[in-house]
Amino acid sequence: MNVCVIGTGYVGLVTGAVFADLGNEVYCVDNDKRKIEMLNRGEMPIYEPGLKEMVRRNVEDGRLFFFTSVAKGMKSAKVIFIAVGTPSRANGETDLSAVAAVAKDIALHLDDYKIIVNKSTAPVGTGNFVRNVIEKYQRTNVEFDVVSNPEFLKEGCAIADCLYPDRIVIGVSNHHVAMALLELYAPLERPMLITDVESAEVIKYASNAFLATKISFINFIANLCEKAGADVSLVAKGMGYDSRIGKDFLQAGLGYGGSCFPKDTLSLLHTARNFREDTSLLEAVVKINQERVPKFVGRIEQKLNPIKGKVVGVLGLAFKPNTDDLRDAKSLEIINNLLKKKAIIRVYDPVAMENASTILKNVTFCKNAYEVAHGADALVIVTDWNEFKLLNLEKLRQEMRKPYLFDGRNIYNKERAERAGFEYFCIGKR
Ligand code: UGA
Repeated sequence: MNVCVIGTGYVGLVTGAVFADLGNEVYCVDNDKRKIEMLNRGEMPIYEPGLKEMVRRNVEDGRLFFFTSVAKGMKSAKVIFIAVGTPSRANGETDLSAVAAVAKDIALHLDDYKIIVNKSTAPVGTGNFVRNVIEKYQRTNVEFDVVSNPEFLKEGCAIADCLYPDRIVIGVSNHHVAMALLELYAPLERPMLITDVESAEVIKYASNAFLATKISFINFIANLCEKAGADVSLVAKGMGYDSRIGKDFLQAGLGYGGSCFPKDTLSLLHTARNFREDTSLLEAVVKINQERVPKFVGRIEQKLNPIKGKVVGVLGLAFKPNTDDLRDAKSLEIINNLLKKKAIIRVYDPVAMENASTILKNVTFCKNAYEVAHGADALVIVTDWNEFKLLNLEKLRQEMRKPYLFDGRNIYNKERAERAGFEYFCIGKR
């Protein structure tokens, strides 16, 4: 099948590469000329394990193309995916201006029947919104259908998530469109759920908000464990064995960051308020998450008192491992908080250094974790990269001026850290 994917961010680029790998002809479009030029040179605008190889293979085999023009990309495509950014406005509302601009562009070049699939995370009602925009701007009276097909991939393992999704949700208004999308996804042999457009749109937000709720719930339990002398890791393990609860997303820490959960929970809150629903449950989830960093920095401050002039080493900048993404990363919140208190900051991340150098000012970028530790009064673990789990703790300690280790992701064992000479602080345990 010929497919056009508009937007080459995480969702668009990975989806395009995977569809091409399944044997479809895929035209990826982005209005960012620099990105398209990079992709045409075989360079990736984002770091995602396995993506570069997959893109290169499909470009070489003549199944994957990159354009800056929507007209060119959609010309011979039967299905057009919209996968552009849907950021938050200050009030939490989702900004649909990029979706609207793409819908208008599609409308202006619509000259035969197309299936237009919204893959961008966008609130319930966006399917109708896209339909209205296209109807307003289309120049010819051709038919089209609008589908909602939310994406559930996670950064860092996006290709595997796209190839082996837990489920594929297709929100359609008629049977004929459902069949076309089923055909496109059939080679994956994964569970498919056909719904109406609105239900598909809600499924995406409900899923992300539920996962965010799990994280805030375990962080609430972590606070309790710290006071009660219990161990949150053991509590999460004990809960996770219950198949109704499940073990995933019960890792206590600094809270959820990234480009999805923070913005999607706020967007769902906004939608619920618009429908005059009681939002207290979700408000609590957001509040618990927002309290994670101030609480953590408060503990650092208690030990280093005063923070002013103290050297703090930060290990991990990406919002989670296996990505170079810094959007809503806890590292930025922590570093800015510490800088305000006049700490001296040294940082290292295995892949996010280049991105970080454009965002972070007044910090020292180091070559590795040991360099970060050099002369530091405290070391802070912010991202649970595997590389940090394997560090030589004795060597790390020797580099430091003071022995304080704040583990925001519970990657070390307390006894082990103490044996190496650290005074160790982690989340949800004494
Ligand atoms: C999330 C969802 O997991 C995807 O299913 C969804 O498609 C995506 O959002 C999206 O809407 O596009 P992602 O943001 O890439 O994916 O990352 P996650 O692995 O879900 O992690 C989100 C945040 O939660 C990270 O900051 C992570 O450190 C934190 N987290 C995760 C915890 O604090 N504890 C956990 O147990 C799990």
